[in-house]
Amino acid sequence: MDLNNNVPRYMLAALLLCLFHITHMICLGADTISANQSLSGVQTIVSAGGIFELGFHKPGNSSNYYICMWYKQIPFDNIVWIANREKPVSDRFSSVLRISNGNLVLFNESQIPIWSTNVSSTTSTSVHAVLQDDGNLVLIDELKSPSLLWQSFDNPAHAWLPGSKLGYNNTTRRNQPIISWKNSEDPTPGLFSVELDQSDNSFRIVWNRSKIYWTTGAWNGKVFEKVPEMKENNIFYYSFITEANKSSLTYFVKDNSTFRYTLMDISGQVKQVNWLGTNIGWSLFWAQPRQQCEVYAFCGAFGSCNQKSLPFCNCLKGFVPKSQSDWNLEDYSGGCKRKNKLQCGNNMSTNGANHNGERDKFLPLSSMSLPESAQSATAADVEECESTCLNDCSCTAYAYNSSTCSIWIGDLINLKQLSVDDRTGKSLYVRLAASELQSKKNNIVIGIVLGAVAGFTVLVGLIVLVILIQRNKIVGLGKAVVEGSLVAFDYRYLQNATKNFSEKLGGGGFGSVFKGTLPADSTLVAVKRLESVSQGEKQFRTEVSTIGTIQHVNLAMLRGFCCEGTKRLLVYDYMPNGSLASHLFRINNSNVLDWKTRYQIALGTARGLFYLHEKCRDCIIHCDIKPDNILLDAEFHPKLADFGLAKLFGRDFSRVLTTVRGTRGYLAPEWISGEAITTKADVYSYGMMLFEFVSGRRNSEHFEEGEVDFFPNMAAKVIIEGGDVVSLLDPRLEGNADEDELIRVCRVACWCIQDDETHRPSMGHIVQILEGIINVNLPPLPKIFQVFMDNPDDIIFFTESSSSQKVHRHGTACPLLPLES
Ligand SMILES: *[C@@H]1O[C@H](CO)[C@@H](O)[C@H](O)[C@H]1NC(C)=O
Ligand SMILES: *[C@@H]1O[C@H](CO)[C@@H](O)[C@H](O)[C@H]1NC(C)=O
Ligand SMILES: *[C@@H]1O[C@H](CO)[C@@H](O)[C@H](O)[C@H]1NC(C)=O
Ligand SMILES: *[C@@H]1O[C@H](CO)[C@@H](O)[C@H](O)[C@H]1NC(C)=O
Ligand SMILES: *[C@@H]1O[C@H](CO)[C@@H](O)[C@H](O)[C@H]1NC(C)=O
Ligand SMILES: *[C@@H]1O[C@H](CO)[C@@H](O)[C@H](O)[C@H]1NC(C)=O
Ligand SMILES: *[C@@H]1O[C@H](CO)[C@@H](O)[C@H](O)[C@H]1NC(C)=O
Ligand SMILES: *[C@@H]1O[C@H](CO)[C@@H](O)[C@H](O)[C@H]1NC(C)=O
Ligand SMILES: *[C@@H]1O[C@H](CO)[C@@H](O)[C@H](O)[C@H]1NC(C)=O
Ligand SMILES: *[C@@H]1O[C@H](CO)[C@@H](O)[C@H](O)[C@H]1NC(C)=O
Ligand SMILES: *[C@@H]1O[C@H](CO)[C@@H](O)[C@H](O)[C@H]1NC(C)=O
Repeated sequence: MDLNNNVPRYMLAALLLCLFHITHMICLGADTISANQSLSGVQTIVSAGGIFELGFHKPGNSSNYYICMWYKQIPFDNIVWIANREKPVSDRFSSVLRISNGNLVLFNESQIPIWSTNVSSTTSTSVHAVLQDDGNLVLIDELKSPSLLWQSFDNPAHAWLPGSKLGYNNTTRRNQPIISWKNSEDPTPGLFSVELDQSDNSFRIVWNRSKIYWTTGAWNGKVFEKVPEMKENNIFYYSFITEANKSSLTYFVKDNSTFRYTLMDISGQVKQVNWLGTNIGWSLFWAQPRQQCEVYAFCGAFGSCNQKSLPFCNCLKGFVPKSQSDWNLEDYSGGCKRKNKLQCGNNMSTNGANHNGERDKFLPLSSMSLPESAQSATAADVEECESTCLNDCSCTAYAYNSSTCSIWIGDLINLKQLSVDDRTGKSLYVRLAASELQSKKNNIVIGIVLGAVAGFTVLVGLIVLVILIQRNKIVGLGKAVVEGSLVAFDYRYLQNATKNFSEKLGGGGFGSVFKGTLPADSTLVAVKRLESVSQGEKQFRTEVSTIGTIQHVNLAMLRGFCCEGTKRLLVYDYMPNGSLASHLFRINNSNVLDWKTRYQIALGTARGLFYLHEKCRDCIIHCDIKPDNILLDAEFHPKLADFGLAKLFGRDFSRVLTTVRGTRGYLAPEWISGEAITTKADVYSYGMMLFEFVSGRRNSEHFEEGEVDFFPNMAAKVIIEGGDVVSLLDPRLEGNADEDELIRVCRVACWCIQDDETHRPSMGHIVQILEGIINVNLPPLPKIFQVFMDNPDDIIFFTESSSSQKVHRHGTACPLLPLES
């Protein structure tokens, strides 16, 4: 590993050691440490197949040495196990790892034992340690039965190798967890750990050994309840072992030709990585919790986590990192400290306090997710809430909503800065020394701005009031009734609004869409007349009101519905720019969507879909992602339409979906195999669509125009072989595209259409990649294309009869999450 640095000295030392110890010492290469052998300096042992290596190593820029195990063939830092995590040595040449009294023991420079397997006490010379090809270091005494005395698989460090165990000792009631490093250079056990919950065979992530912030949910024999993507598949299988006084969980990789392992990262996320060769490196293919800011107390006290910025952690205004050096090493857990002391609780006369005797003030922070452990205080209004906090010197923040005053005592942890359009965001007022806040002059400016904002709000309020009054008139006529957040229209009202369904905007398998104008306020609407909905009125209303609660800037907003006899209609906001398909696949060359706009549409669509998958209360799989279902508003912002229809149509949905022309090319392979559909089916469709953003043509069209290769396949090959990506670009753009963005889009697209859904990224990851927050590795060539290449006619990968049979037999009509098993 660090042999590259001072090569001559090391080589010399190694050579000398080997010569010196040639008769009774090991040289580099052997896999065993026997009773009369020892390991020191640059010596290592290597597993028989040359997979793993073990020896002294110092991580990163650290000056400390540890006994580490790593993948021998991988050139970068890839430590998977450490013996003496808490007790490093500084000179590896005078430290030694050897068998002593039947244990494997590490002696430091003064020949004091600082780490030991600590299992047996025997002077037997038959005890020896072997490094195996699976990454297990075992201590064996062949004269004993059982011969296995100790193994590293029972004592993992931060990495969970296939075969190593998350254990639980039922006698001591203690967990054997996998624990993150303290920071990027210090392997001392950090705050985050993964441990087994033997009561329901789940595993969970714990902060500071006490606070559980993520769990897989119970294992049902096939999948973990809360992470349906963690299931037995053609890559992994899991094994739960329950013995009399012990439980453990391990997993195995069926195909061990690529290196894969799971680790508890210093980010507080559990990550699964696999090695894709020296050109590509380690590839992250799964991480939980998905969002960095979901990690408990990641930014420490008074640190605020922002998912959309790098670094994720920042101190609140008026605070600085407690330890900048820890922050530089990606350990934010120490949090932040005040720049200036508070006035409250400090003597006015004290020298050095910077508060000038002025009373503390409160800094308003908007769009925050409120920190944990709020206390409620009685307060009639916001002023009283503020003074309650101000008068209690231990109170650090307050928040007030129309009914409740919440105050926080002591450190604020788990602060999250949300985006402005996140409706769960609240205002939080944080106590600061008066000197931290703006001077009086600025306060006046703020006052003016606030006044203007207030005035504007009143005005908007009045307008809304007028509109409501107008609407109520119509309510009086019994034509449109507000039900929750939706309006229930009667059929004749919509018939009038659409001039008897005369202006058709589009059609599809589920019904046609017509333009309309609501007489009440002349708003333009799009009315979708659903065909063949077999649901009863009550169920329909329930489903529709669920859809009505799903609101996001990138989702088409449902305004209302009509449910009369067998008639079922949905009323949406009208989108002046129509569907993305109409712009992207435009036949004439005028008004071609430029690359910037395409990229923004791709990103907006990903955000909308991410919201549907992970952010709303009843999460929804869209099932029908295609450019025809992406609507564009006046500024070309995308709005995803038709979500929630799967539930409205029930069984018929699959039938319609799989038979409508122009839809099949977007369907994930699991639709054919009859497996349950997950959100990853949407990811697949999204990926297929991304290729169309690049080429400006439908993927299926290329064939019809006589090209031999399927466009996504061709693009994947260009990307993987490092070819000229610009050559893939829609010729109408004449090469005008940001190449980085183009590469990003192509790589994401290629990951999305991987055959195995566990290889596809989540929409959350995709959003982060497109935002440029995380990088995307080179994808492998999607398998499905290898099939296509053999048989291009197979592009529609099933026949109609077989598909509908299969779908019906399994009855999986694109269910809502969590999946029914
Ligand atoms: C080291 O120990 C092994 C096993 O006990 C033995 O076979 C070997 O001869 C010993 N080597 C030396 C040099 O003593
Ligand atoms: C090690 O130190 C060098 C120079 O101080 C710095 O450039 C480099 O980023 C450091 N590496 C790590 C892994 O911290
Ligand atoms: C070796 O370890 C012992 C016990 O931890 C410690 O007291 C001693 O200082 C260490 N020696 C060196 C050279 O670090
Ligand atoms: C071995 O275990 C004993 C008791 O469990 C403990 O006191 C001792 O410190 C351990 N020794 C080492 C070197 O870890
Ligand atoms: C973790 O918990 C221990 C007590 O179990 C406590 O002393 C320590 O301060 C905690 N660490 C942090 C960072 O809060
Ligand atoms: C663990 O111990 C408890 C109580 O001692 C017992 O009820 C339970 O069955 C044990 N579980 C296993 C797996 O041994
Ligand atoms: C389990 O633990 C109990 C109590 O500590 C002990 O009596 C029993 O022998 C243990 N069983 C096994 C199989 O180790
Ligand atoms: C549980 O822990 C105790 C104390 O460390 C140990 O003696 C016992 O062997 C462990 N039991 C199992 C089954 O590992
Ligand atoms: C893969 O598994 C086979 C059979 O279990 C084994 O022989 C081989 O050494 C393993 N290869 C790696 C790289 O672990
Ligand atoms: C304030 O000053 C008094 C008297 O000088 C002292 O007894 C008290 O401890 C001080 N309090 C604080 C919080 O510094
Ligand atoms: C106000 O806050 C309390 C406590 O956080 C919450 O239970 C309540 O629902 C909130 N009320 C409104 C109107 O948001």
